[in-house]
Amino acid sequence: MPMLTLGIETSCDETAAAILEDDKKVLSNIISSSIAKQKPFGGVVPEIASRHHLENIDIVVGAALKEAGKSLQDLDLVAVTQGPGLIGALLVGTSFAKTLAYSLHKPVIGVNHLEAHLEANFIDSEVPKNGYVGLVVSGGHTCLVLFREGIFKIIGQTRDDAAGEAFDKVAKILGLGYPGGPEIDRLAKSGNPKIKFQCGQIPGTFDFSFSGIKTAVLYYAQKNPHFKNELADIAASFQRAVVKSLVEKTLRASEEFDMSTIVVGGGVAANSELRATLANESKKRGYQLQLSPLRYSVDNAAMIARAGYLMHKQGRRDGWSLTGKADLAIGG
Ligand code: KG4
Ligand code: ZN
Repeated sequence: MPMLTLGIETSCDETAAAILEDDKKVLSNIISSSIAKQKPFGGVVPEIASRHHLENIDIVVGAALKEAGKSLQDLDLVAVTQGPGLIGALLVGTSFAKTLAYSLHKPVIGVNHLEAHLEANFIDSEVPKNGYVGLVVSGGHTCLVLFREGIFKIIGQTRDDAAGEAFDKVAKILGLGYPGGPEIDRLAKSGNPKIKFQCGQIPGTFDFSFSGIKTAVLYYAQKNPHFKNELADIAASFQRAVVKSLVEKTLRASEEFDMSTIVVGGGVAANSELRATLANESKKRGYQLQLSPLRYSVDNAAMIARAGYLMHKQGRRDGWSLTGKADLAIGG
């Protein structure tokens, strides 16, 4: 009998549910976003996110079951995002998941959102035996991770803003909409990356810094009253610098730790220049770049179901004391 896992994701502004059959077959992957409600505020308002989850979680789970052609009784496991994320939002998901699993007499398992972003890259394939270097780039987190012998280890992280946060803040400076990443990505396509922006360098480490470049864009806009006429060039120049920093450190980590597979996870993994540059550079060096389709790189519950299923197979069991952890660390 195939095993059916329900995945639930409520760590930020997306309420998501997915049904996974065994380890690879995604039967449904439903996402309800509160972005439209957040847009007027130019960022995620935690209370709005929590309410959106509360109002939609049973609808989204129902839709995931319906699309998969399954009923609650068919489920074998409930996997839910435990953290990191907004605590109110996480509590909606973990409370719902525990209640559902308890009433069905099935196990519940808590999943690390960032590890799930990396593992999402292997939904359609096998995790390489000798591991990989993983780049996590989301709205709240940016880190380089080494995955070896089943263990995640952080080898570098941002000293200040997350990469996605920098995209969002720069978009705000330029008067673009929220979330800023997709807007900058779109604009950059018609721009010339001729303005000299640079990300902070932290020599001898795999750490990143993105707050300086954000300030550089702000000063540039303040000094150039007609900057609105060169939005595409600014977007292209900013994006080029961020991508350069992310790609350089990722390649250096692969070389130093002698890993031949690179994976990227988190919302910024959707960035077209990051995907293309990493693909080119990996090819040149003979590395295998594993990128998930876009539907698995944005926040989604298929990745949660997949990570939960794998942990369950490896024997992990969570009790009913499982709860949200806003600052849950990779490998923690
Ligand atoms: O992983 P995610 O969906 O949510 C978090 O867990 O944070 O990431 C959201 C972030 C936002 O900052 C958004 O601007 C960024 O991912 N993002 C992008 C792109 N699409 C989303 N950044 C750059 N280029 C994109 N195409
Ligand atoms: Zn995420």
